[in-house]
Amino acid sequence: MQPRKVIIDTDPGIDDALALILALGSEALDVRLIATVAGNVDLDCCTANALRILEAFGGPAPPPVHPGCARPLGRRLARAKHVHGADGFSGAAERHPVRRLEASRTDAVTAILSAVRENPDEMTLIALGPLTNVASAIEVDAEAMTRLRELIVMGGSFGHESNVTAAAEFNFFADPVAARVVIQSGLPVTVVGLNVTHRAVLPRARFEALLREIPSAVPARRFLTDLTRQYFEVYKRQRGIEGAYLHDPLAVGAAIDPQLIASRRYPCDVEIEGELTTGMLVVDTREAAVEDRSNVRVATAVDAERFLTLFERALRTAAGTPTQKV
Ligand code: RIB
Ligand code: CA
Repeated sequence: MQPRKVIIDTDPGIDDALALILALGSEALDVRLIATVAGNVDLDCCTANALRILEAFGGPAPPPVHPGCARPLGRRLARAKHVHGADGFSGAAERHPVRRLEASRTDAVTAILSAVRENPDEMTLIALGPLTNVASAIEVDAEAMTRLRELIVMGGSFGHESNVTAAAEFNFFADPVAARVVIQSGLPVTVVGLNVTHRAVLPRARFEALLREIPSAVPARRFLTDLTRQYFEVYKRQRGIEGAYLHDPLAVGAAIDPQLIASRRYPCDVEIEGELTTGMLVVDTREAAVEDRSNVRVATAVDAERFLTLFERALRTAAGTPTQKV
């Protein structure tokens, strides 16, 4: 089967990095370009981190990295350095300097629109950060964006799970205006929210056992260890769990194997002015509304074991340990 052409829009970030490794290691995906957006950390950091990942896991002909928007469309800046480290790489960025790759001089919005126009109805855009680049592309050329095959968005939550305020998930909170543009766009949007990402926790012991399978001389082992050490500590401290959420890898997983998630179309919108609820994904589950106003496909359940197995196989592939590609 032909691999699925994808664009990945991302704010690396630890789970973004793991999502990129999953995508790069999957035979089911053809990663055509990576767009970076300010989110977990500043844009330049996100772009450098994307290059770091490509140098370690991108192979001989990695996809280009196009820097995107440094500031959200609406509201003040939000960052998640307390989760991903000030460098967006668990404090290990300097141990993995970018040596040979450079970011493209073409900006992300231009690159996204060109890729969609050149591959009408074949391109899937997987958005793993604030939706600033995606909303900007819609505002520049909405017609071109209608030729997307699917827009898979890690963000929001179906129900009341949140992580950055009592009501909002980080990607939607960091740029609620952009999130509303995308949710109201009429594009084929699938939202992978906290209601499913919180149901597919990667147990620390399981991940550490996988790392031990990788020979210590293999660079990928040190890279993955550096990348994740702090990440597990953060979740232990913040959520009291011996594991880590794989928010962004699940969005990529949904592109690799759509059967990983169950979903349903609902009428959705995003709060942009609420004193307590800015950035909240509002899903209208009233049957009458669902019948005639549904605009977004919302993930409602996840096959966690199927996903974790897919994720582990991709890491083994990426690290060059014996397994067939995912
Ligand atoms: O809420 C989780 C999302 O916010 C993930 O994309 C994570 O990388 C952060 O950007
Ligand atoms: Ca992210």
